[in-house]
Amino acid sequence: MIPYPSKVEPKENKFTLNSETRVSFSPELTQVVDYLKDLISNSTGFSLATNLETNKKNTISLILHDTNKIENTEGYQLSINMDNIIIEATTHQGIFYGIQTLRQLFPIEIESREVIEEFIWTVPCMSIVDNPRFKWRGLMFDVGRHFHDMETIKRTIDLLALIKMNIFHWHLTEDQGWRIEIKKYPKLIEIGSKREDTKIGGWTSNKFRGKSHTGHYTQEQIKEIIEYASKRFITVIPEIEIPGHSSAAIASYPGLSCDNKEINVPTKFGIFYDILCPGKETTFEFLENVLEEVISLFPADIIHIGGDEAPKKKWRQCKDCQKRMKDEDLKSIHELQHYTTKRIGKFLASKGKRLMGWNEILTETTDRKFIAQWWMRGKRDIKKHINEGGEVVISKFSRVYLDYNYIVTPLKKTYSHEPMLKKIKPEQQKQLLGVEAPIWTEWVPNRDRLDWQVFPRLAAVSEIGWTSRSNKNYKSFRKRLISFSRRLDYLGVNHADLEKVDPNLLKRIWNLRRVLKWPEI
Ligand code: ACM
Ligand code: ZN
Repeated sequence: MIPYPSKVEPKENKFTLNSETRVSFSPELTQVVDYLKDLISNSTGFSLATNLETNKKNTISLILHDTNKIENTEGYQLSINMDNIIIEATTHQGIFYGIQTLRQLFPIEIESREVIEEFIWTVPCMSIVDNPRFKWRGLMFDVGRHFHDMETIKRTIDLLALIKMNIFHWHLTEDQGWRIEIKKYPKLIEIGSKREDTKIGGWTSNKFRGKSHTGHYTQEQIKEIIEYASKRFITVIPEIEIPGHSSAAIASYPGLSCDNKEINVPTKFGIFYDILCPGKETTFEFLENVLEEVISLFPADIIHIGGDEAPKKKWRQCKDCQKRMKDEDLKSIHELQHYTTKRIGKFLASKGKRLMGWNEILTETTDRKFIAQWWMRGKRDIKKHINEGGEVVISKFSRVYLDYNYIVTPLKKTYSHEPMLKKIKPEQQKQLLGVEAPIWTEWVPNRDRLDWQVFPRLAAVSEIGWTSRSNKNYKSFRKRLISFSRRLDYLGVNHADLEKVDPNLLKRIWNLRRVLKWPEI
């Protein structure tokens, strides 16, 4: 089982699923029951008829309690007996996680998309009491550098559900591509979602693919993904990057930049000087209109606005930016970014949404209602944010950035990450919401590469987020990973070879010179 549950008590004997097995459930649970039925019928061919009475022989019972019998809203209890299986929780989400655990206890053949005849479907008897350590367990997926299609997004969401992760942070805008349809600004797609070419072969290479790259999600498709995720108890958080990493928006509407210069959607990667101009009112008008459409699509109460890596060179030379600084009494060019963040935060708050951003959004006077995502530097700001009541998500780049090579970030380095910052008072620890792993896609053009980067490291991240500190154990994790990776094989996931995800130190040093030169993809 990955992530490992809070309490596991093995028992003698086995439960055997057969064509006579029934399911009984509280009537409001229809949706999760359908999920369970699909899961089971695909591989076993059994259609699980409904049993109106619970706890009968050969029955899987899903019981929703309306009391606080189970303390954590994501928690559940699973009891597997010779005669029956019982999953209990106080929320649909808890029941769903109980189903995911049960799924992982079945033979891996349960993942088959085709019916396997004559197979004996047994689960070992045990009782499990389980709940997550952190409430934020996320993956960030950059679809700007490389577009990934609907099937890949849905498949990724399915995999998050398998390991009880609950946040899909969708990085929808980048220098190299704007990927979300905005009805009011059609050029964001007509121009911003396409680029002429793409650098390949890594940071030090001079090669290009020699092919254009394009792709976006319509608003209908965005809704479809949100709905798909919601059935799996995953919240989709959109990210619209402000003010940096916005070359694609500027290529579409050059008036958004300080110098109005026409640029192309970049074909290389890195940090660009063309960023949004906060000196002009028209920039805020654009952003508010864009965000208005984003808000109307995404039910989550959080909108991510990026905020990282915004070089201020053009702001220094821009008369509009200089005037803004004077009018608003801003003492430094950095305060101009904070003015921008605050203003957008206020706009979002007026629509009932909270602003989230990378740790660069933090200053002495940041609105403590903003959620800060810590990736690099700025640890002092993060601690101060927590001290003053703010909430944070941990995405430490050296541990949970899944775009790095396994030579730089071996599986063990990810697994052994402890996200709880030191010297946080016990009563403030819950302000550290949890952990999120980003997958940046400069060198991730397709699903196979995505799978290789993400798995098995994401399984380690799920355990950082879910499993209690005292239950975490790398040796046990590696052992459980053997059958988990076979499960991934069944699901068609091109995960990295378990023999290669923990290169020894000598190998790491020897290969470090290769790290900058990524394999051609
Ligand atoms: C980041 O990796 N620039 C947040
Ligand atoms: Zn400007």
